Amino acid sequence: MQPKRFMTLQRHILEGEKRHPEATGELSAILSNLILAVKVISLEVNKAGLIDILGYTGKENVHGEQVKKLDIFAHQTIIRAMDHGGHLCVMASEEEEDIIHIPKHHDIGKYVLLFDPLDGSSNIDANVSIGSIFSIYKRISSGGGPGTIEDALQKGAKQVVAGYVVYGSSTIFVYTAGDGTHAFTLDPAVGEFLLSHENIRTPERGSIYSTNEGNYKYWHRGFKEYIKFLQDADDRGAKPYSARYIGSMVADIHRNLLYGGIFIYPSDKRNPNGKLRLMYECNPMAFIVEQAGGKATTGKQRILDIIPNNLHQRVPIYIGSKEDVELVEQYLQKYEGQ
Ligand code: AHG
Ligand code: MN
Ligand code: MN
Repeated sequence: MQPKRFMTLQRHILEGEKRHPEATGELSAILSNLILAVKVISLEVNKAGLIDILGYTGKENVHGEQVKKLDIFAHQTIIRAMDHGGHLCVMASEEEEDIIHIPKHHDIGKYVLLFDPLDGSSNIDANVSIGSIFSIYKRISSGGGPGTIEDALQKGAKQVVAGYVVYGSSTIFVYTAGDGTHAFTLDPAVGEFLLSHENIRTPERGSIYSTNEGNYKYWHRGFKEYIKFLQDADDRGAKPYSARYIGSMVADIHRNLLYGGIFIYPSDKRNPNGKLRLMYECNPMAFIVEQAGGKATTGKQRILDIIPNNLHQRVPIYIGSKEDVELVEQYLQKYEGQ
Protein backbone atom coordinates (compact mmCIF):
# COMPACT_ATOMS: atom_id res chain seq x y z
CA MET A 1 0.00 0.00 0.00
CA GLN A 2 1.23 3.46 -0.90
CA PRO A 3 1.98 5.29 2.38
CA LYS A 4 -0.22 8.36 2.88
CA ARG A 5 1.73 11.58 2.46
CA PHE A 6 1.64 14.15 5.22
CA MET A 7 -0.77 16.91 4.44
CA THR A 8 -0.33 19.92 6.66
CA LEU A 9 -2.92 22.66 6.85
CA GLN A 10 -0.56 25.17 5.26
CA ARG A 11 0.20 22.84 2.36
CA HIS A 12 -3.50 22.18 1.82
CA ILE A 13 -4.27 25.89 1.70
CA LEU A 14 -1.39 26.57 -0.68
CA GLU A 15 -2.36 23.72 -3.02
CA GLY A 16 -5.97 24.91 -2.98
CA GLU A 17 -4.91 28.44 -3.86
CA LYS A 18 -2.66 27.24 -6.68
CA ARG A 19 -5.69 25.73 -8.42
CA HIS A 20 -6.88 29.30 -9.05
CA PRO A 21 -4.65 30.90 -11.68
CA GLU A 22 -5.48 34.42 -10.49
CA ALA A 23 -4.37 33.68 -6.91
CA THR A 24 -1.57 35.76 -5.48
CA GLY A 25 -0.66 33.73 -2.40
CA GLU A 26 -2.09 36.44 -0.16
CA LEU A 27 -4.82 34.25 1.28
CA SER A 28 -2.24 31.63 2.20
CA ALA A 29 -0.20 34.31 3.94
CA ILE A 30 -3.23 35.49 5.93
CA LEU A 31 -4.05 31.95 6.97
CA SER A 32 -0.45 31.26 8.02
CA ASN A 33 -0.60 34.19 10.43
CA LEU A 34 -3.94 33.02 11.72
CA ILE A 35 -2.62 29.50 12.26
CA LEU A 36 0.15 30.95 14.41
CA ALA A 37 -2.41 32.88 16.47
CA VAL A 38 -4.58 29.83 17.12
CA LYS A 39 -1.56 27.74 18.14
CA VAL A 40 -0.73 30.40 20.74
CA ILE A 41 -4.36 30.46 21.92
CA SER A 42 -4.45 26.66 22.06
CA LEU A 43 -1.38 26.64 24.34
CA GLU A 44 -2.98 29.18 26.63
CA VAL A 45 -6.27 27.24 26.72
CA ASN A 46 -4.37 24.11 27.74
CA LYS A 47 -2.71 26.01 30.58
CA ALA A 48 -5.95 27.51 31.83
CA GLY A 49 -6.59 24.80 34.41
CA LEU A 50 -3.13 25.32 35.92
CA ILE A 51 -3.73 28.91 36.86
CA ASP A 52 -4.54 28.27 40.52
CA ILE A 53 -2.00 25.47 40.98
CA LEU A 54 0.86 27.58 39.66
CA GLY A 55 -0.07 30.57 41.77
CA TYR A 56 -1.58 32.62 39.01
CA THR A 57 -4.41 33.74 41.28
CA GLY A 58 -5.13 37.43 41.65
CA LYS A 59 -4.32 39.78 38.88
CA GLU A 60 -0.69 38.89 38.17
CA ASN A 61 0.98 35.66 37.13
CA VAL A 62 4.40 34.44 38.31
CA HIS A 63 6.11 36.57 35.69
CA GLY A 64 4.51 39.68 37.09
CA GLU A 65 2.29 39.94 34.01
CA GLN A 66 -1.36 40.76 34.14
CA VAL A 67 -3.53 37.64 33.80
CA LYS A 68 -6.06 38.34 31.11
CA LYS A 69 -9.37 36.71 30.65
CA LEU A 70 -8.93 34.09 27.95
CA ASP A 71 -11.34 35.80 25.56
CA ILE A 72 -9.40 39.07 25.76
CA PHE A 73 -6.13 37.16 25.43
CA ALA A 74 -7.46 35.43 22.28
CA HIS A 75 -8.74 38.73 20.85
CA GLN A 76 -5.39 40.45 21.34
CA THR A 77 -3.39 37.46 20.09
CA ILE A 78 -5.30 37.41 16.79
CA ILE A 79 -4.82 41.15 16.31
CA ARG A 80 -1.08 40.92 17.09
CA ALA A 81 -0.64 38.05 14.64
CA MET A 82 -2.63 39.73 11.86
CA ASP A 83 -2.32 43.49 11.83
CA HIS A 84 1.17 43.83 10.33
CA GLY A 85 0.82 41.17 7.63
CA GLY A 86 0.04 43.71 4.90
CA HIS A 87 -2.80 41.72 3.35
CA LEU A 88 -5.73 43.07 5.37
CA CYS A 89 -7.41 46.46 5.20
CA VAL A 90 -9.68 46.16 8.23
CA MET A 91 -10.78 43.66 10.90
CA ALA A 92 -13.73 43.27 13.26
CA SER A 93 -14.07 41.18 16.41
CA GLU A 94 -16.95 40.17 18.62
CA GLU A 95 -14.95 41.70 21.48
CA GLU A 96 -14.81 45.19 20.00
CA GLU A 97 -17.64 47.62 19.32
CA ASP A 98 -16.24 49.21 16.13
CA ILE A 99 -14.13 48.00 13.24
CA ILE A 100 -10.47 47.46 14.08
CA HIS A 101 -8.16 49.64 12.01
CA ILE A 102 -4.90 48.24 10.72
CA PRO A 103 -1.78 50.34 11.44
CA LYS A 104 -0.85 52.85 8.76
CA HIS A 105 1.11 51.49 5.77
CA HIS A 106 -0.12 47.97 6.59
CA ASP A 107 -3.76 48.77 5.91
CA ILE A 108 -3.88 48.60 2.14
CA GLY A 109 -4.43 44.87 1.77
CA LYS A 110 -7.17 43.29 -0.33
CA TYR A 111 -8.85 41.31 2.45
CA VAL A 112 -11.04 41.74 5.52
CA LEU A 113 -10.97 39.52 8.64
CA LEU A 114 -13.88 39.05 11.05
CA PHE A 115 -13.59 36.85 14.14
CA ASP A 116 -15.06 35.56 17.35
CA PRO A 117 -11.79 35.07 19.28
CA LEU A 118 -13.19 32.78 21.95
CA ASP A 119 -16.52 31.05 21.56
CA GLY A 120 -18.17 29.29 24.47
CA SER A 121 -16.60 31.53 27.08
CA SER A 122 -18.97 30.34 29.82
CA ASN A 123 -17.19 26.96 29.57
CA ILE A 124 -13.60 28.26 29.98
CA ASP A 125 -13.21 27.59 33.70
CA ALA A 126 -14.59 24.06 33.49
CA ASN A 127 -12.19 22.59 30.91
CA VAL A 128 -15.07 22.14 28.50
CA SER A 129 -14.46 22.54 24.74
CA ILE A 130 -14.32 26.10 23.44
CA GLY A 131 -13.25 27.54 20.10
CA SER A 132 -12.44 30.42 17.75
CA ILE A 133 -14.32 31.34 14.56
CA PHE A 134 -13.26 33.49 11.58
CA SER A 135 -14.35 34.79 8.17
CA ILE A 136 -12.34 36.33 5.35
CA TYR A 137 -13.87 38.63 2.71
CA LYS A 138 -12.42 40.57 -0.21
CA ARG A 139 -12.48 44.31 0.30
CA ILE A 140 -15.10 46.21 -1.70
CA SER A 141 -14.00 49.80 -1.03
CA SER A 142 -11.84 51.27 -3.73
CA GLY A 143 -8.90 53.61 -3.47
CA GLY A 144 -6.47 51.27 -1.77
CA GLY A 145 -6.55 53.18 1.54
CA PRO A 146 -7.72 51.81 4.89
CA GLY A 147 -10.77 49.55 4.91
CA THR A 148 -14.20 50.81 5.93
CA ILE A 149 -17.30 49.55 7.72
CA GLU A 150 -18.76 48.61 4.30
CA ASP A 151 -15.87 46.18 3.81
CA ALA A 152 -16.75 44.52 7.10
CA LEU A 153 -20.50 44.46 6.49
CA GLN A 154 -20.85 42.14 3.51
CA LYS A 155 -23.34 39.30 3.24
CA GLY A 156 -22.10 35.83 4.18
CA ALA A 157 -22.30 34.57 0.59
CA LYS A 158 -19.33 36.84 -0.14
CA GLN A 159 -17.01 34.98 2.25
CA VAL A 160 -13.85 33.73 0.57
CA VAL A 161 -12.72 31.56 3.46
CA ALA A 162 -14.31 30.65 6.79
CA GLY A 163 -13.08 28.44 9.57
CA TYR A 164 -13.22 27.51 13.20
CA VAL A 165 -10.93 25.92 15.73
CA VAL A 166 -12.11 23.64 18.52
CA TYR A 167 -9.90 23.51 21.61
CA GLY A 168 -11.13 20.14 22.85
CA SER A 169 -9.60 16.78 23.65
CA SER A 170 -7.36 17.78 20.76
CA THR A 171 -7.18 21.05 18.84
CA ILE A 172 -8.93 20.87 15.47
CA PHE A 173 -8.90 23.46 12.67
CA VAL A 174 -11.80 23.24 10.20
CA TYR A 175 -11.98 25.48 7.13
CA THR A 176 -13.56 25.99 3.76
CA ALA A 177 -12.42 28.10 0.84
CA GLY A 178 -15.56 27.21 -1.11
CA ASP A 179 -14.20 23.85 -2.19
CA GLY A 180 -15.46 21.50 0.51
CA THR A 181 -14.91 21.47 4.26
CA HIS A 182 -11.71 20.00 5.66
CA ALA A 183 -10.45 19.35 9.20
CA PHE A 184 -6.91 19.23 10.54
CA THR A 185 -5.81 18.02 13.96
CA LEU A 186 -2.93 19.65 15.78
CA ASP A 187 -0.10 17.25 16.54
CA PRO A 188 1.31 18.90 19.65
CA ALA A 189 4.66 17.14 19.33
CA VAL A 190 5.27 18.39 15.79
CA GLY A 191 3.38 21.65 16.22
CA GLU A 192 1.54 21.17 12.91
CA PHE A 193 -2.09 20.78 11.95
CA LEU A 194 -2.35 17.54 9.94
CA LEU A 195 -5.22 16.59 7.66
CA SER A 196 -7.61 14.36 9.59
CA HIS A 197 -10.96 14.72 7.76
CA GLU A 198 -10.91 15.59 4.07
CA ASN A 199 -14.05 16.79 2.34
CA ILE A 200 -16.43 16.23 5.25
CA ARG A 201 -19.97 15.27 4.20
CA THR A 202 -22.53 15.76 6.93
CA PRO A 203 -25.39 13.20 6.95
CA GLU A 204 -28.57 14.29 5.14
CA ARG A 205 -30.46 13.53 8.31
CA GLY A 206 -29.11 13.18 11.83
CA SER A 207 -30.31 11.93 15.18
CA ILE A 208 -29.04 14.69 17.48
CA TYR A 209 -30.66 18.00 18.41
CA SER A 210 -28.76 20.72 20.19
CA THR A 211 -30.57 23.63 21.77
CA ASN A 212 -30.86 25.28 25.19
CA GLU A 213 -34.04 23.67 26.54
CA GLY A 214 -33.89 25.94 29.60
CA ASN A 215 -35.54 28.53 27.37
CA TYR A 216 -38.55 26.26 26.73
CA LYS A 217 -41.12 28.60 28.25
CA TYR A 218 -40.14 31.37 25.82
CA TRP A 219 -40.26 29.17 22.72
CA HIS A 220 -42.86 29.67 20.01
CA ARG A 221 -45.38 26.91 19.44
CA GLY A 222 -43.85 25.70 16.15
CA PHE A 223 -40.49 25.09 17.80
CA LYS A 224 -42.07 23.33 20.80
CA GLU A 225 -44.03 21.05 18.47
CA TYR A 226 -40.89 20.29 16.43
CA ILE A 227 -38.82 19.27 19.46
CA LYS A 228 -41.73 17.17 20.71
CA PHE A 229 -41.85 15.43 17.34
CA LEU A 230 -38.15 14.53 17.62
CA GLN A 231 -38.61 13.25 21.16
CA ASP A 232 -41.54 11.09 20.07
CA ALA A 233 -39.60 9.38 17.27
CA ASP A 234 -39.89 6.07 19.15
CA ASP A 235 -43.68 6.11 18.83
CA ARG A 236 -43.30 6.11 15.06
CA GLY A 237 -40.80 3.25 15.15
CA ALA A 238 -38.07 5.71 14.18
CA LYS A 239 -34.63 6.13 15.71
CA PRO A 240 -34.98 8.44 18.70
CA TYR A 241 -33.11 11.74 18.68
CA SER A 242 -30.59 12.48 21.40
CA ALA A 243 -30.23 15.87 23.06
CA ARG A 244 -26.64 17.13 23.13
CA TYR A 245 -25.82 20.68 24.17
CA ILE A 246 -22.40 21.85 25.26
CA GLY A 247 -23.08 25.59 25.15
CA SER A 248 -20.11 26.28 22.86
CA MET A 249 -21.50 26.77 19.38
CA VAL A 250 -18.30 25.63 17.66
CA ALA A 251 -18.09 22.40 19.62
CA ASP A 252 -21.81 21.65 19.26
CA ILE A 253 -21.76 22.26 15.52
CA HIS A 254 -18.49 20.37 15.03
CA ARG A 255 -19.97 17.25 16.64
CA ASN A 256 -23.18 17.53 14.63
CA LEU A 257 -21.23 18.09 11.40
CA LEU A 258 -19.50 14.75 11.89
CA TYR A 259 -22.42 12.74 13.32
CA GLY A 260 -25.40 14.50 11.72
CA GLY A 261 -27.99 16.56 13.54
CA ILE A 262 -29.30 20.04 14.08
CA PHE A 263 -28.08 22.96 16.23
CA ILE A 264 -30.62 25.65 17.01
CA TYR A 265 -30.50 29.03 18.69
CA PRO A 266 -34.07 30.02 17.88
CA SER A 267 -36.10 33.15 17.79
CA ASP A 268 -38.24 33.12 20.95
CA LYS A 269 -40.71 35.35 22.79
CA ARG A 270 -37.93 36.98 24.81
CA ASN A 271 -35.31 37.29 22.06
CA PRO A 272 -36.91 37.50 18.60
CA ASN A 273 -33.43 37.60 17.01
CA GLY A 274 -32.02 34.74 19.06
CA LYS A 275 -28.59 35.26 20.59
CA LEU A 276 -25.86 34.43 18.11
CA ARG A 277 -24.08 37.04 16.04
CA LEU A 278 -24.47 37.01 12.27
CA MET A 279 -21.01 38.31 11.36
CA TYR A 280 -18.83 36.39 13.81
CA GLU A 281 -20.74 33.15 14.40
CA CYS A 282 -23.62 32.41 12.02
CA ASN A 283 -22.08 33.36 8.66
CA PRO A 284 -18.81 31.42 9.02
CA MET A 285 -20.53 28.35 10.50
CA ALA A 286 -23.19 28.49 7.74
CA PHE A 287 -20.53 28.58 4.99
CA ILE A 288 -18.70 25.61 6.52
CA VAL A 289 -21.86 23.54 7.06
CA GLU A 290 -23.20 24.28 3.56
CA GLN A 291 -19.86 23.23 2.06
CA ALA A 292 -20.27 19.91 3.87
CA GLY A 293 -23.74 19.41 2.34
CA GLY A 294 -25.77 20.85 5.23
CA LYS A 295 -28.06 23.85 5.55
CA ALA A 296 -28.30 27.01 7.68
CA THR A 297 -31.31 29.32 7.89
CA THR A 298 -33.05 31.80 10.17
CA GLY A 299 -36.13 29.61 9.89
CA LYS A 300 -37.21 31.69 6.90
CA GLN A 301 -34.13 32.77 5.01
CA ARG A 302 -30.72 31.35 4.13
CA ILE A 303 -28.19 32.79 6.60
CA LEU A 304 -25.65 33.56 3.85
CA ASP A 305 -28.17 35.76 1.99
CA ILE A 306 -28.83 38.17 4.86
CA ILE A 307 -27.75 41.73 4.08
CA PRO A 308 -26.16 42.85 7.36
CA ASN A 309 -26.87 46.26 8.84
CA ASN A 310 -24.82 46.10 12.03
CA LEU A 311 -21.54 44.48 12.96
CA HIS A 312 -22.98 42.91 16.08
CA GLN A 313 -26.45 42.01 14.84
CA ARG A 314 -28.00 38.78 16.09
CA VAL A 315 -30.07 36.32 14.08
CA PRO A 316 -31.93 33.11 14.92
CA ILE A 317 -30.13 30.08 13.50
CA TYR A 318 -31.22 26.56 12.50
CA ILE A 319 -28.15 24.76 11.19
CA GLY A 320 -27.07 21.21 10.38
CA SER A 321 -28.29 18.23 8.39
CA LYS A 322 -30.37 19.33 5.42
CA GLU A 323 -33.53 17.33 6.13
CA ASP A 324 -33.55 18.29 9.80
CA VAL A 325 -33.34 22.00 8.97
CA GLU A 326 -36.08 21.68 6.34
CA LEU A 327 -38.35 19.92 8.82
CA VAL A 328 -38.01 22.57 11.52
CA GLU A 329 -38.78 25.24 8.90
CA GLN A 330 -42.02 23.44 8.07
CA TYR A 331 -43.04 23.46 11.74
CA LEU A 332 -42.22 27.16 12.12
CA GLN A 333 -44.29 27.95 9.05
CA LYS A 334 -47.23 25.80 10.11
CA TYR A 335 -47.55 27.54 13.49
CA GLU A 336 -46.39 30.99 12.37
CA GLY A 337 -47.47 33.76 14.76
CA GLN A 338 -48.16 31.39 17.69
P1 AHG B 1 -19.46 33.62 23.18
O1 AHG B 1 -18.71 32.81 24.20
O2 AHG B 1 -18.61 33.95 21.97
O3 AHG B 1 -20.12 34.83 23.77
O4 AHG B 1 -20.61 32.72 22.54
C1 AHG B 1 -21.42 31.95 23.37
C2 AHG B 1 -22.56 31.47 22.55
C3 AHG B 1 -22.35 30.17 21.82
O5 AHG B 1 -21.09 29.65 21.79
C4 AHG B 1 -23.28 29.22 22.50
O6 AHG B 1 -23.86 28.37 21.57
C5 AHG B 1 -24.29 30.09 23.15
O7 AHG B 1 -23.64 31.27 23.43
C6 AHG B 1 -24.84 29.49 24.40
O8 AHG B 1 -25.82 30.31 24.88
P2 AHG B 1 -26.80 29.86 26.08
O9 AHG B 1 -25.97 29.86 27.29
O10 AHG B 1 -27.85 30.94 26.07
O11 AHG B 1 -27.36 28.52 25.72
MN1 MN C 1 -19.32 33.06 20.27
MN1 MN D 1 -16.75 35.05 21.92
